[in-house]
Amino acid sequence: MPARILVIDDEESMCHFMEIMLVKEGYEVETSLSATDALTQLRSTNYDLVITDLQMPDMTGIDLVREVKGFKAEQEMFVMTAYASVDTAIEAMKEGASDYITKPFKVDEIKLTIAKAINRRGLARENEVLKKQLQDKNSFDAIIGQSTAITQVKRLAERIASSDSTVLIRGESGTGKDLMARAIHHHSPRCGGPFVTLNCAALPETLLESELFGHKRGSFTGANRDKDGLLKAADGGTFFLDEVGNMSPAIQVKLLRVLEDKKVTPVGDTKPFDVDIRLIAATNADLEADVKGGRFRADLFYRLNVLPISLPPLRERLDDIPLLVEFFLDRFAERGHGPRRTVNADVLTLLAGYAWPGNVRELENTLERAIVMNRSDALEPADFPGRLTDQPPALSRSDGEEVEPSATTPTSPSPTLEIMEKAYIQYVLTQTDGKKSEAARILGIDASTLYRKLERYKMSERERPNRSSDK
Ligand SMILES: Nc1ncnc2c1ncn2[C@@H]1O[C@H](COP(=O)(O)OP(=O)(O)OP(=O)(O)O)[C@@H](O)[C@H]1O
Ligand SMILES: [Mg+2]
Repeated sequence: MPARILVIDDEESMCHFMEIMLVKEGYEVETSLSATDALTQLRSTNYDLVITDLQMPDMTGIDLVREVKGFKAEQEMFVMTAYASVDTAIEAMKEGASDYITKPFKVDEIKLTIAKAINRRGLARENEVLKKQLQDKNSFDAIIGQSTAITQVKRLAERIASSDSTVLIRGESGTGKDLMARAIHHHSPRCGGPFVTLNCAALPETLLESELFGHKRGSFTGANRDKDGLLKAADGGTFFLDEVGNMSPAIQVKLLRVLEDKKVTPVGDTKPFDVDIRLIAATNADLEADVKGGRFRADLFYRLNVLPISLPPLRERLDDIPLLVEFFLDRFAERGHGPRRTVNADVLTLLAGYAWPGNVRELENTLERAIVMNRSDALEPADFPGRLTDQPPALSRSDGEEVEPSATTPTSPSPTLEIMEKAYIQYVLTQTDGKKSEAARILGIDASTLYRKLERYKMSERERPNRSSDK
């Protein structure tokens, strides 16, 4: 649904110009020549943005802002003002206007300011949804994404969660294997029990063995007392064994026994004890290849691979990038990284054109870096590292359709640009009481160019635009 904007100005040419410009940008626009009329309209209709002039005969823009804020506190409002009265604009902002536009405008600037405001509003709405989801950070909803690829995986995981079988989570680094393991545990019948995790790649073999299974006092140098292993600590809950592809053959055998007999034998001990755990293993390695190459036991692989889940790489679900970006920008703001930042379509296009070998983690880190680079509210493509553009774009949406990058890139001049230019010239001419040299200066063109344009558009300085909107 296009955003709805109400423009209030007692000057027809201004309303006309704004309408043409904003409609061209894809907004739904209504105009009002009277502040009192606009007030009535605002009580019955919702607008995403209200843009009002400051000096109007029936009511000042400041009074209008104050009144509207009285019954619609959340209403996003802009005031328009001449350079001379910026002080008044600031006064209007104290009443609750969120920005001001100075006349005569630079068209690009005003478009951007408006786009940002509309964006902010959309985000505010989206934030509420996200916040609700985040109330449970261990839920499947904490795995952000609405693409077909991730939705299917989440649905599968929800079903898997209720069973007690071993799960093997596959996926490249940074695709959310950790997040997935937690969500499964918290949706399983074991959610009241412990969730214990161990990363097999993080420890040397002997330490890993003793961490997993525990040891008896004196079983190796430095083992001064009995120690329980993590498998015991997970008794009654879930054990998450991360990077399971990195286990030595000896540990693979011991783990197989745990899975087959539900028994754990500590290092240096002979008596096994029973454990009641559910195992979730994760890996980003090609375990099938490791089995073929003799690096991973086939029997252990089949024991682990009872319920396989594959997390898709980010490049196969680029359509989730906007949602992930909003999620991380919210989270950075919540965690005290300054104000809530925004991104524009150019940034999203840039992010969607990169292959993300480090997946969601890389996206998260890249955004964090951009926030550090840019202290302003809006992140720009320039805040992102050059590597994002170094590669040929890997555009793909999870539904297999190609992403259309040109949808957000500037289009070539079209006939409607002429209409807009004509309206703008008309507006500037009425501002300068028809003084062409003055108008040309404001427009930033030679007087002779202005004459040529007037000729082409068959305009005279006396011409007034038609009243376009009588509501
Ligand atoms: N779908 C997602 N929604 C929100 N955050 C995500 C998602 N996927 C990953 N993340 C975030 O990305 C980071 C990496 O995720 P995680 O640690 O789960 O990945 P991993 O697959 O375990 O990576 P590795 O193989 O390197 O251990 C974390 O900060 C995690 O919160
Ligand atoms: Mg991990």
